[in-house]
Amino acid sequence: MEVWVPLLIALAGAVIREALFARPPNITYSIDEETCNLHVRWLPAEPPSSNCTQQYKVGMRINGSWNGLTFLVHKETFWTEAVPVGEKVDFGVKTTCDSNDIETADWNDDETFHVVQNGTAGTGAKNINCIWWNKKSMECSWNSGGKASSDTSYKLSYWLPLEDGQNKAKQCRNVTRKESEFRCRFDLDFHHLARIHISVQGKSANIQTTCFITESVNSLVKFDPPSFTDHSKNRNEMFLQWNKPVGFSDSCCDSEVEVNSSKSEIKHFKHTYSTTIPLEPNVQHSFRVRIQSEKGHWSDWSDVLFDSSPPSTTSTYLWLILIPLCVALLLVILLIYLKRIKLLIFPKIPDPGKILKDVFEEQIENQPAHETVNNDETHSLMLVEPAGNEK
Ligand SMILES: *[C@@H]1O[C@H](CO)[C@@H](O)[C@H](O)[C@H]1NC(C)=O
Ligand SMILES: *[C@@H]1O[C@H](CO)[C@@H](O)[C@H](O)[C@H]1NC(C)=O
Ligand SMILES: *[C@@H]1O[C@H](CO)[C@@H](O)[C@H](O)[C@H]1NC(C)=O
Ligand SMILES: *[C@@H]1O[C@H](CO)[C@@H](O)[C@H](O)[C@H]1NC(C)=O
Ligand SMILES: *[C@@H]1O[C@H](CO)[C@@H](O)[C@H](O)[C@H]1NC(C)=O
Ligand SMILES: *[C@@H]1O[C@H](CO)[C@@H](O)[C@H](O)[C@H]1NC(C)=O
Repeated sequence: MEVWVPLLIALAGAVIREALFARPPNITYSIDEETCNLHVRWLPAEPPSSNCTQQYKVGMRINGSWNGLTFLVHKETFWTEAVPVGEKVDFGVKTTCDSNDIETADWNDDETFHVVQNGTAGTGAKNINCIWWNKKSMECSWNSGGKASSDTSYKLSYWLPLEDGQNKAKQCRNVTRKESEFRCRFDLDFHHLARIHISVQGKSANIQTTCFITESVNSLVKFDPPSFTDHSKNRNEMFLQWNKPVGFSDSCCDSEVEVNSSKSEIKHFKHTYSTTIPLEPNVQHSFRVRIQSEKGHWSDWSDVLFDSSPPSTTSTYLWLILIPLCVALLLVILLIYLKRIKLLIFPKIPDPGKILKDVFEEQIENQPAHETVNNDETHSLMLVEPAGNEK
């Protein structure tokens, strides 16, 4: 008998639970593959008790995980939510009386619907990546699906959840392809935009659709690199100023300035576009800057600014001594060379008169010894010949 007690309690619990969390009748759904929206509809359910304010609880499971994707729907009998088409998506709908009831743990498999996707698995676009350049134009790239044939072509459409809610998806008109990478860029000029749904569809029906949905479209922003608009240096500091993106308020961006000297250092700035950086003596410094919108991508680095003016005082003194020294040394070398060059251009012309006179004097001196006379004659001739004066 005791065995039945917990079973009965469990049964009673299940019945009450069933009454409180009933599935509303006639649940239907559809997916708009261009806007990446899942539309779910149902018929009104009987309230489980007379005291209950009827509400519906809707949950969505992506890739098998419910995390945070549960919503309360008050009076309406429909629900629309962005879905990452291309992933495994399930959803469920229940009635509830408790407006705090957004727990996710109480979904059973028989209460959920699996969203059937069109097209052949593995053919959808992969690695969709978008950059919102200067909050002016969106550039997206993607690769073809692993199972898609090599001539598969894709199109991209995007949808903005604007106030009227009725707007249609727009097409990106200029898809280009380089090997297996596709790319498309479209104008998107908004200062404040909450969300964007981007859908990449095959041009033929057997290709799966893939949707790209970000939590925050701001995370896609990338600005052009800034540049230094002003800089000035005094003894031991460098003042730097750089530009924020045109048309944006002061609070638009964070900045990073990289300073290279004997070490490399990165300084962070919030909503500030100028700074004064202490300089190390006797070291050349270089600087570059980049900016980031809240949560977005960092821009590329600016051009490098070199601290070009002469470094500090001690080395100035060193140069003051070294430069005259070098000049003097050069002068000495130049003088020596000039003398050499003069010798090369105006060689010392032998004086034939003097040579002949020398020869005769020697011959007279050496008259008695014959062998030596011959030797001296050849010697004197050799001396005379180059001047061409022997005849
Ligand atoms: C609701 O579903 C039931 C059973 O499937 C069906 O008989 C009925 O016609 C549906 N009602 C509506 C309004 O679609
Ligand atoms: C319904 O609400 C009334 C007062 O709001 C309360 O006295 C009563 O006990 C409630 N009944 C049930 C079944 O919760
Ligand atoms: C779902 O799973 C796939 C692979 O199993 C992964 O590539 C993808 O990023 C997942 N998506 C989400 C939203 O977690
Ligand atoms: C599949 O395609 C049909 C017809 O185009 C459409 O009505 C339906 O919503 C699509 N389903 C999904 C999951 O995309
Ligand atoms: C299309 O895109 C390519 C590459 O991004 C670009 O060079 C070309 O000017 C674009 N054409 C039009 C009409 O926008
Ligand atoms: C600082 O040094 C690193 C590493 O050598 C280099 O990549 C970077 O461009 C330098 N930055 C500047 C501002 O000179």
